[in-house]
Amino acid sequence: MSTIDLEGKIPNNVDLSADKRLRRALEQWQPAFLDWWRTMGPERFQADDVYLRTAVSVDADGWAHFGMVKMPDYRWGIFLTDREDNRTIGFGDHFGKPVWQDVPGEHRNALRRLIVTQGDTEPASVEQQRRLGATCPSLYDLRNLFQVNVEEGRHLWAMVYLLHTYFGRDGREEAEALLQRRSGDPDKPRILQAFNEPMQDWLSFLMFTTFTDRDGKYQLLALAESAFDPLARTCRFMLTEEAHHMFVGQTGVARIIQRTAELVRAGKDPEREGALSFALLQRYINYWYSVSLDLFGAEVSTNGAGYFGSGLKGRPKEGRYADHLVLDGATLVEQMENGLLVQREVAPRLAVNLEVRNAYAADCQNALDKWNKLVEDLGVVFRLPSDRFHRAVGTFAGHPFDPNGQLIGADELNRRTADWLPSAADRAYVQSLMTRPVTGPGQFASWIAPPARGIDGKPVDFTYVRFNQA
Ligand SMILES: [Fe+2]
Ligand SMILES: [Fe+2]
Repeated sequence: MSTIDLEGKIPNNVDLSADKRLRRALEQWQPAFLDWWRTMGPERFQADDVYLRTAVSVDADGWAHFGMVKMPDYRWGIFLTDREDNRTIGFGDHFGKPVWQDVPGEHRNALRRLIVTQGDTEPASVEQQRRLGATCPSLYDLRNLFQVNVEEGRHLWAMVYLLHTYFGRDGREEAEALLQRRSGDPDKPRILQAFNEPMQDWLSFLMFTTFTDRDGKYQLLALAESAFDPLARTCRFMLTEEAHHMFVGQTGVARIIQRTAELVRAGKDPEREGALSFALLQRYINYWYSVSLDLFGAEVSTNGAGYFGSGLKGRPKEGRYADHLVLDGATLVEQMENGLLVQREVAPRLAVNLEVRNAYAADCQNALDKWNKLVEDLGVVFRLPSDRFHRAVGTFAGHPFDPNGQLIGADELNRRTADWLPSAADRAYVQSLMTRPVTGPGQFASWIAPPARGIDGKPVDFTYVRFNQA
């Protein structure tokens, strides 16, 4: 077992006290992080007490330690899962050899890019969500938002630890740049486009945590297989926290559906009661699922194949596959050629990205199945759109497909877009419901049902956020 240091400036289980240089470097980065948090983290609420979960160790009971905390005092720490003896590389060209405890020179640039790209999404999402507190639907939800935010902050710490420890001067520069880029800033934007759009409303936030955080889960699962052992162990621990983010999204949307269903069963029009119609929710699903698919990259990907071959990035739960070399045979993939949909055989490693994305799609379908159970009696069925619909990345990008995956004319797509994707009117309606915060203990906005239970055994009407400032 690793020893845990909670007394130092930076809580950690990586024995920071034994490495003075590293410790000093990270202690120098810490004030810059806190500055970033104060200026780009949640707007207002920084002096308030929030009932937060803090990781204090990686074992089953240590990683979920609850208490009232002011967000800037949150103990962001560095935690890796314990090192496995004799772990070997689970896939690719180096299959079966011992994993790397250091970065091999030939993979240095690619690994740094993977870590920086992953790391950049963490502060980016905090920046995107920074104004949501002002329109929270309840104290319970406000607390959940802040829990997600502080943990994304911790994930940034996890990536910065790797950069500082294994990438020398370049790594330190990248760690600084992670605090300098800003979501939506035209001069220094965040790396991935999806992380440059501001999060306008709570429905988008709950869809984001359902669909986009789940992309994050699949990226982390793939990196958790990495031959670079410190990266694998970092991602394994991040996954335990990430699960909560998807819980926030999935149960949040479920509670919206539940509220709408109650109104429909009572013979009322949801939109006249300040709730969200099933049709509008389907349009938000179509949007958030399709933009999240884009994060997986192209269906046929030489980058993906390269990462897999060199052992940098595997497939989620690689151990479940029989073949870890993925060299034999061919994989059939759909491609657009001259505006037509065709089937092409490609070398199977080129389709590794697609395979990961398909696992993600099945996981999303599970979430929808749970939502659909809530409205079975009403004959409502939410559906994931086809992976050809509304794509900006990959072979289908820019081609007019409907949500069923039928190729249609560009005119028809234009005419029907408002049926399939959130329209300006939808967004305006959603925002009209979310103009002020609902902060009375046990009170909930008109568009969302209370949760079945509270956090950490506390009642639903518990004061999850205590305001200390006017
Ligand atoms: Fe994260
Ligand atoms: Fe997350």
